[in-house]
Amino acid sequence: MTPTKVKIVEVGPRDGLQNEKNFVATETKVELVNRLSQAGLQNVESASFVSPKWVPQMADGAAVMEGIDRRHGTIYSVLTPNMRGFEAALQAHADEVVIFGAASEAFSQKNINCSIAESIARFEPVAKAAKEAGVRLRGSISCSLGCPYQGEVPVASVVDVVERMKALGCDEIDIADTIGVGTPTRTREVLAAASKVFPREHLSGHFHDTYGQAVANIYAALQEGIEIYHASVAGLGGCPYAKGATGNVATEDVVYLMNGLGIETGIDLDQLIEIGDFISRAIGKPSSSRAGRALLAKKRDGVTPCV
Ligand code: HMG
Ligand code: MG
Repeated sequence: MTPTKVKIVEVGPRDGLQNEKNFVATETKVELVNRLSQAGLQNVESASFVSPKWVPQMADGAAVMEGIDRRHGTIYSVLTPNMRGFEAALQAHADEVVIFGAASEAFSQKNINCSIAESIARFEPVAKAAKEAGVRLRGSISCSLGCPYQGEVPVASVVDVVERMKALGCDEIDIADTIGVGTPTRTREVLAAASKVFPREHLSGHFHDTYGQAVANIYAALQEGIEIYHASVAGLGGCPYAKGATGNVATEDVVYLMNGLGIETGIDLDQLIEIGDFISRAIGKPSSSRAGRALLAKKRDGVTPCV
């Protein structure tokens, strides 16, 4: 069941940068998106059209979308919590809009200020408008493997939201481990249950690496036949509404894993490690990518670090 080819969705420019305290210049964001698409990422989550009061870092989404060089065939996605966000996305010529809900009531309240049922009602017009406009629609389900407020999240709660997102017409659904608490067994359990109600090939794994389990969870998800993975270059990020959550699994680490398994990604790992270095310098933080740091040291100094 293990796929021979996967799609990696780069979420660094959005999920990664949204949590940065210091405002990252629009031109840096634009360069990041451009370099990622040139390195072979077929899908780049590039901006969010959310309230700038809630997430100030994403306030320049329109300028980012305006500034990028569109690479033929690349899907540029943006987050749209409501119709206001959708209209901005349409104006920005986004290829895909992302509605984002949660499998946990408490997290839904903290992140988007409404219950799960209310969020689905808000997404309905967005989904309808996306279909009418011929824009791809993706649904993201936070806290699918655990919640910072509620703790354990029943598999049935995740499946319930998958079914609701499916009814809205989502082309793709993300099973998101927002706080990185998931382990391989739980990952397989949730993905197996989700793929009973939604086509496996359109389900994706979105793993944050807070507990260091993300690569193991991806390996587990591969055994379930999952073909789409989200990752963030240099392991950028966190979530503003999930205290202590660290970044997504690093794209460099995922590509290194896939290369080792002989699974095709279409991504140039050498270019990717340079991008990881570029954005880490730009935000003044060391890269969280283990593979990225090791490969860069080897490339610059000709040595493999042992610490
Ligand atoms: P609200 O306060 O409940 O709703 O926010 P509201 O409609 O009353 O709007 C409040 C203010 O926001 C108003 O402005 C609106 O105009 C404005 P004011 O009158 O106070 O000046 N507003 C907007 N501005 C720009 N664009 C918009 C927009 N909508 C309203 N689209 C809302 C509800 C959802 C808008 C708010 O809670 C919000 O923006 N939350 C941000 C959530 C967010 O971006 N979270 C991080 C991304 S999700 C994530 O990272 C998880 C994921 O990675 C998966 C995983 O790892 O779990 C996807
Ligand atoms: Mg996330």
